[in-house]
Amino acid sequence: MAFFQGVPVTIRGSGMYVPSKVVTNEELSKIVETSDEWIRERTGIRRRHIAEAGELTSALAERAGRAALENAGVSSSEVDMIIVATNSPDTLFPGVAPKVQGLLGAEKSGAFDVQSGCTSGVYSIVLAVNGIASGIWRNVLVIGAEVLSPLVDWTDRNTCVLFGDGAGAMLLGPSNGEGRFLSAELRADGTKHDQITLLGGLIENPASLESIEQKKHFVAMKGNDVFKFVNRVIPPFLKDFCEDSGLSADAIDCWFFHQANQRIIERAAERLGIAPERVFINLDEYGNTSAASVFIALSEYMKLGRLHPGQRLLFTAFGAGMTYGGVIYES
Ligand code: COA
Repeated sequence: MAFFQGVPVTIRGSGMYVPSKVVTNEELSKIVETSDEWIRERTGIRRRHIAEAGELTSALAERAGRAALENAGVSSSEVDMIIVATNSPDTLFPGVAPKVQGLLGAEKSGAFDVQSGCTSGVYSIVLAVNGIASGIWRNVLVIGAEVLSPLVDWTDRNTCVLFGDGAGAMLLGPSNGEGRFLSAELRADGTKHDQITLLGGLIENPASLESIEQKKHFVAMKGNDVFKFVNRVIPPFLKDFCEDSGLSADAIDCWFFHQANQRIIERAAERLGIAPERVFINLDEYGNTSAASVFIALSEYMKLGRLHPGQRLLFTAFGAGMTYGGVIYES
């Protein structure tokens, strides 16, 4: 059963931060053989925000986290746990979350990272909700943050046009009847672990001159295989997830798909019979910000004043692993 048990958990606030530097499709077409038209038609992306050299994932995460705390009217000393969902940590260790805990001065908080491809954000939300529902935590700051740009091969048109840097955050806490997470389902298919990879620099491929020459320190992706996997797996998964949650796809007021590709999102929506106006899309502005994408989407949705009591929101993502999952919230 996919339902949360225990203390009901609500979204107390949200926030986001993206670097100010913008790279348009037009600018990319001067670096690699591509065009604005190709990128827009195949992906829906028009621009992406890219961190300056030295602008770290922890810095983006801190700013998004602060914004969520401010939005919630909660001080950092009231936070019990900080979870950072990221695939681009400043360093393998320490993690990003402990650095953010230090930067925020959240002296009573624990901190850890979740790395599970672009689904890391959804996995982190589910972990946070469970921790609050069971009573071990009260306020949990969940942040999705990525600076993927240094990990992208800017000579590879198959990948460099897709990704962007950015961070988003939610402050979750016990609900006094003003909204609650209903249900979740998290999955993986590790037989497809070779579809999205960054192979270099760790145990399997320690850093060497050879690993650098072979470009193993960059994101590699079998784009077409990912596209097919997602189109095959995600729509039936979401249909079953809604049914197991006692809801029809129609009962969801807004769908927050991982912002990877507009074509993928539109196909999934079509197969599920979802009206286009119920799907939130902002990948045109940010590209694929991986673990941060669902948080940035929610933050913009809330800033637009579109979140109203009684709405049902579904957050869903897929990514390296392959991993995928969904979580439903009722405001
Ligand atoms: N500009 C111009 N041409 C490009 C290009 C680019 N940026 N990237 C690839 N191409 C070319 C390819 O080289 C290929 O040329 P060829 O036919 O001469 O070999 C052609 O376009 C078609 O490539 P293909 O990979 O089949 O395109 P596609 O329709 O599958 O679109 C993606 C490519 C990457 C946009 C698409 O596969 C996709 O979105 N996949 C999912 C990626 C994703 O979401 N990843 C993140 C998961 S978290």
